[in-house]
Amino acid sequence: MSDTLNVISICGSLRKGSYNAALARTLPALAPPGLSIKAAPPWETMPIYNADVQRAGFPAVVTDWANAIRNADGVIIISPEYNWSIPGGLKNAIDWVSRMKDQPFENKPVALQSAAGGLLGGSRMQYHLRQSLTSIEAIILIRPEVFVTFAPKKFDEKTLELIDQPSIDMVRAQLVGFEKFVRDLSGKR
Ligand SMILES: Cc1cc2nc3c(=O)[nH]c(=O)nc-3n(C[C@H](O)[C@H](O)[C@H](O)COP(=O)(O)O)c2cc1C
Repeated sequence: MSDTLNVISICGSLRKGSYNAALARTLPALAPPGLSIKAAPPWETMPIYNADVQRAGFPAVVTDWANAIRNADGVIIISPEYNWSIPGGLKNAIDWVSRMKDQPFENKPVALQSAAGGLLGGSRMQYHLRQSLTSIEAIILIRPEVFVTFAPKKFDEKTLELIDQPSIDMVRAQLVGFEKFVRDLSGKR
């Protein structure tokens, strides 16, 4: 029996009816048996990054989020695209932890997913996240990629369950690939 890998999911949308949050909620059921996926602690009460505030001490919400990332074998970020890029709140959270001594994203395996209303499915956001996370030495899974395009058509209108089979298959394939990626990097068998 191999060790179960503990993975956390971080959602970039705070909206109650968020398609990205709905996508994040499907992950535990779609994951291979070797991956346990739980939601990261919330980031929405983080103040806007300010070095003066940092000097007085990292806020508890930042240290809690950083500890969850440190303690995880891997991280999956599921986020919408805002104006062709990373939602400001999520970027702010990443900026906060990037200033920590024991920087939590360093050498951390990360996978990216996005759902969006349009044709590109949040791809521009993912490429900006790849750039930003590379600057803080996260190790990002190249493929399989997950883009849920035309999101309102892929989720049940009432329950927000992911009902589009090709999208479900795409998520499953990424999670299988991510398990292998994390095991190869960590040496955990
Ligand atoms: C501020 C803002 C900017 C947006 N910019 C984009 C964009 O650049 N590309 C895109 O595909 N969708 C964009 N959208 C539409 C989102 O894809 C859509 O609202 C999506 O449902 C948001 O994700 P969520 O359902 O997880 O909240 C934008 C939405 C907002 C609120």
